[in-house]
Amino acid sequence: MSYRKPHIEDQLKILLTQEEIEEKVAELGKIISHDYAGKELIIVGVLRGSVYFLVDLSRKMHIPFTVDFISISHYSEQTDSAGVVRITKDLDLSITGRHILIVEDIVDTGLSLGYLLRNLKTRNPADLKVCTLLNVEARRIVEVPVDYKGFDLPNIFVVGYGLDYNEKYRNLQFIAEYSQP
Ligand code: IMP
Ligand code: MG
Repeated sequence: MSYRKPHIEDQLKILLTQEEIEEKVAELGKIISHDYAGKELIIVGVLRGSVYFLVDLSRKMHIPFTVDFISISHYSEQTDSAGVVRITKDLDLSITGRHILIVEDIVDTGLSLGYLLRNLKTRNPADLKVCTLLNVEARRIVEVPVDYKGFDLPNIFVVGYGLDYNEKYRNLQFIAEYSQP
């Protein structure tokens, strides 16, 4: 089985092509560079899904910045602890007094991001903003601010460009709707 090519092609329906993603990422990089010019910026990638987006976005930025990563896990499968989120890998850097931009692949229920924002706020950054490639307003449980976003999506499950289904499909260059066979 080829890893790049989905095993069962008809489970995936392309929603956003490589070109559409590239164009949007370049646009976001330009806007963010403009907004953070002259500021001490730390870009915080949320592992693991946002890595692909973060790498491409950062290469479209033309201002100095630092990159750090944080990893969180959620137990949405366990009914008794639905929505429980915890940090499994913390930031390496101190964010106190710095301008922080969280980079997410997708904001869905908002539970992860809501937790992350609450947690990072206690460290007193100069300011804390959010950039997400994908936004699914229809599934929102927790209200979260989204300062920069690539695309709005309806209530569907997507894979590709960092997003996975059981750790598969992250390396697709496009974003596709995934449906169970
Ligand atoms: P939340 O529901 O907003 O807390 O989303 C949490 C995380 O679930 C996201 O950062 C993604 O890693 C993952 N996720 C949410 N929706 C999708 C999807 O449609 N495809 C793949 N991963 C998703
Ligand atoms: Mg994520």
